[in-house]
Amino acid sequence: MIPSPSDRTEIRTALVLGATSDIAVATLAELHRRGPLRAVLAARDPDAATAAVAAAAPGLSTEAVAWDALEVEGHRALFERAATTLGTIDVVLCAVGLLGHHAGMSMGPVDVDHMIRTNFAGPAAALAAAGQYLVEQGHGTIVVLSSVAGLRARRSNYVYGSTKAGLDLFAQGLSDSLVGTGARCVVVRPGFVRSRMTEGLDPAPFSTDPATVARATVDALQRPGRDVVSVPRVLGPLFGVLRVAPRGLWRRIAGDR
Ligand SMILES: NC(=O)c1ccc[n+]([C@@H]2O[C@H](COP(=O)([O-])OP(=O)(O)OC[C@H]3O[C@@H](n4cnc5c(N)ncnc54)[C@H](OP(=O)(O)O)[C@@H]3O)[C@@H](O)[C@H]2O)c1
Repeated sequence: MIPSPSDRTEIRTALVLGATSDIAVATLAELHRRGPLRAVLAARDPDAATAAVAAAAPGLSTEAVAWDALEVEGHRALFERAATTLGTIDVVLCAVGLLGHHAGMSMGPVDVDHMIRTNFAGPAAALAAAGQYLVEQGHGTIVVLSSVAGLRARRSNYVYGSTKAGLDLFAQGLSDSLVGTGARCVVVRPGFVRSRMTEGLDPAPFSTDPATVARATVDALQRPGRDVVSVPRVLGPLFGVLRVAPRGLWRRIAGDR
C-alpha cells in the first residue's frame, strides 16, 4: 500500500514556536539523535534559543528568529520564512506557555488576560497559520504541548488549566480538520514536568522530565495514528477516571496542588 503523506515519519526539518522551552529543546535533541535535523527556532530571545539548542544538541543546524506569540499578524510570515530556510517544514512544535505559580484567585484581570493571550489566543492563531501552511505544503505534523491541567479545573491553577483546555480543544479540532490533507496534528499532554516552568514547585505525583516528554513526543511523531499522547502514559487512563470523579472528591484529591 502506498503511504499517505500524513503517514510520512521521516523528520528532517522542524520549526519550533517558543524555542527556549526546556521541553522543546529536549525534543529537538531527541529528533537529532534519531537522524540529521535542521531547525528554525522562533523565540522572544533568539540568542538564548540558539545557545540552549547548541548545548543540548551539538551539531544541530539552526536559524533563530525573533518571534512573539502575542504578535499574531506575524504568524503567517514566520512560516514563509521558515520554509525559505528549511525547504519544507516536517514538524511544527508549539511550546509557548506561561504557568504562574499557584495562581488562581490571586490573579487579577490584567494577569488573566495576559495568560489567556499567551497560552491560548496567541498559540491558537499560530496553529491556524501552521495548519494552513502545512495543508498547502501537502505534508507535515504539528505538535501542540497541552497539559493534563486542562482536563479538570483545580483551584490553584484554573487560569492556566482553562487556557490549556482551550488550546487542547482547538488542537483536537485542528487534528480532525487535517484528516485527508496530508498534514497531521498531535496533542501532547504532560503532567508535572521538572523544567524551568516549574522551578521552585514541589513535584506532583507522576512527575517527569523534559527528556521523557521528548521521547514520547518523537515516538508519536514516528507512529501515524497516535494523535493524543499523555506523559507519562498512565495519566491518560487516570484522568479518564479523575475527570468524572464527584466534585467534592476531586477537590479533596486536588487540594492546593
Ligand atoms: N513544565 C510542565 O510541568 C508542563 C506540563 C504540561 C505542559 N507544559 C507545557 O509545555 C510547554 C513548554 O513548557 P516548558 O516546561 O518547556 O516551560 P518553559 O521552559 O518555561 O517554556 C515556555 C516557553 O514559552 C515561551 N513563551 C512564553 N511567552 C511567550 C510569548 N509571548 N511568545 C513566544 N514565546 C513565549 C517561553 O519563552 P521565553 O524564554 O521568552 O520566556 C519559553 O520558551 C508549555 O506550553 C507548557 O504549558 C509544561
